[in-house]
Amino acid sequence: MKLAKSSQFPPCPGPVVTIVLDGVGISPREDGDAVKTARTPTLDKLMTTYPMTPLRAHGTAVGMPSDEDMGNSEVGHNAFGAGRVFAQGAKLVAESIASGHLWQGKAWHDVVATAKQGGCLHFLGLFSDGNVHSHIDHLRAMLEQAKQEGVSKVRLHILLDGRDVGETSALDYVDPFEEYLTQLRSEQFDVAIASGGGRMTITMDRYEADWSMVERGWDIHVRGLGRQFASAHEAITTYRTELNVIDQDLPGFVIAKDGQAIGKIVDGDAVVFFNFRGDRAIEISRAFIEEQFTPFARGPLPNVTYAGMMQYDGDTQLPPRFLVEPPTIDRTLGEYLAKNGVSQYAISETQKYGHVTYFWNGNRSGKFDETLETYVEIPSDVVPFEQRPWMKCAEITDALIGAIRSGQYRYLRVNYANGDMVGHTGNFEAAVTAMQGLDIQLARLIPVILAAQGTAIITADHGNADEMFELDKKGAVKRDAEGRTKAKTSHTLNPVPFVLVSANPSYQLRTNLTTPGLSNVAATVLNLLGFEAPDDYDASLIQPL
Ligand code: 3PG
Ligand code: CO
Repeated sequence: MKLAKSSQFPPCPGPVVTIVLDGVGISPREDGDAVKTARTPTLDKLMTTYPMTPLRAHGTAVGMPSDEDMGNSEVGHNAFGAGRVFAQGAKLVAESIASGHLWQGKAWHDVVATAKQGGCLHFLGLFSDGNVHSHIDHLRAMLEQAKQEGVSKVRLHILLDGRDVGETSALDYVDPFEEYLTQLRSEQFDVAIASGGGRMTITMDRYEADWSMVERGWDIHVRGLGRQFASAHEAITTYRTELNVIDQDLPGFVIAKDGQAIGKIVDGDAVVFFNFRGDRAIEISRAFIEEQFTPFARGPLPNVTYAGMMQYDGDTQLPPRFLVEPPTIDRTLGEYLAKNGVSQYAISETQKYGHVTYFWNGNRSGKFDETLETYVEIPSDVVPFEQRPWMKCAEITDALIGAIRSGQYRYLRVNYANGDMVGHTGNFEAAVTAMQGLDIQLARLIPVILAAQGTAIITADHGNADEMFELDKKGAVKRDAEGRTKAKTSHTLNPVPFVLVSANPSYQLRTNLTTPGLSNVAATVLNLLGFEAPDDYDASLIQPL
């Protein structure tokens, strides 16, 4: 994995720093755009003073099935880190189902065999067509296949989305699905929704930010402990009248009959966690798999056949049983740098920590070289982020400035979570504040990088804060009869900025790339560090002056 020295690009005399402004895209519209609305004098100046190009960050440019698919942090950071586009989970699962490959695998055989020996087959996962963590069509296909293969009892544990899809769209998924289940149900096939709740309340924590979410999910899905309802529809409508929260924040619920939960998970059952994306799948998978488990009091561990839709962590091989082979993302930028003796520093706050480490390194949780790599996690607040839109951006900058000034690192990368995490709340004012907080960080950081004779790349993994209002099919802002807008919590299809900031560049942006995307950044970083990029990396964004 030795990299050749570049014949065209002298190594940057100072550090190269990639700054990912998570969820900060470039929208063609004005209204609902928190990025444009915010007062961001530093970012505005950088974008007009230095070379800048938009990068594609959604759809096929990041390995999604189609250009209708928005980008997300997993595929975005995979593309940054791998320098190439890999077919991603959403696409691989859809293909595996379409070809029938999924049903031939050992993992599917194991779960079906367990269920046919008298166990119940449970499906647990994010219940929407967001295609970021999961897709409801994959669930349908598995239900139909299970029925066809003679499974007799199935229970569904549904995590309500409202974050990758409309903020109050849960019933648009639940109601038609109940009808569909009625069609599917028969004397021999007993299928029902057994539990659920908002994805930001139960089960889908990530990076160990808040294990209590997983504990609540465990109690709801596995132990059947929680507020009881007759149906998911009833749970959702009841909670909506009692609480003023959007779908992702709805509390957990248990479906019960005569006071008894209808779908506890017990010895001899099979469980399929049907999310393909790993960050929010790892903790619940650990709870199902680890014999010695300390994060919360789990109670007796039921002896179940557990399968993930994919393997979520390549380093720890979690979970060991999975339905679809994940993309084999090899020879990442991080690995090349480690093998070529280049020191690296990666930093973010908890909510995005794994994005600049695990996703960046091709869904591996470990390091390539302990002596050359430093990973820093600033603990995130555990609060609704609209209440603290600055999040930990100042603390991250403090640490990053220290790392740059130490002179110890050649390549540094940072993710600022604000544009995305606050964007997901749907709160426009908070998203504006988030952007203004970020701008202050850039004002602090960029002079330090330039003083160290370094180069900064300012970019983003996908859009979010750039569109805070729902749009109609024609791309105009949706308004109700009173002219009110509807908050949009999900990512956008917009491109993201790529701004190259350095004092005396000996290069310029390439002009012959038609639609550059996130995967072009890794080769650019290698060139800035004075290396040739590997032949199969997507083209660098720079050329000599
Ligand atoms: C989430 O997991 O928070 C959203 O589904 C996607 O957001 P991310 O891709 O920016 O992490
Ligand atoms: Co996001």
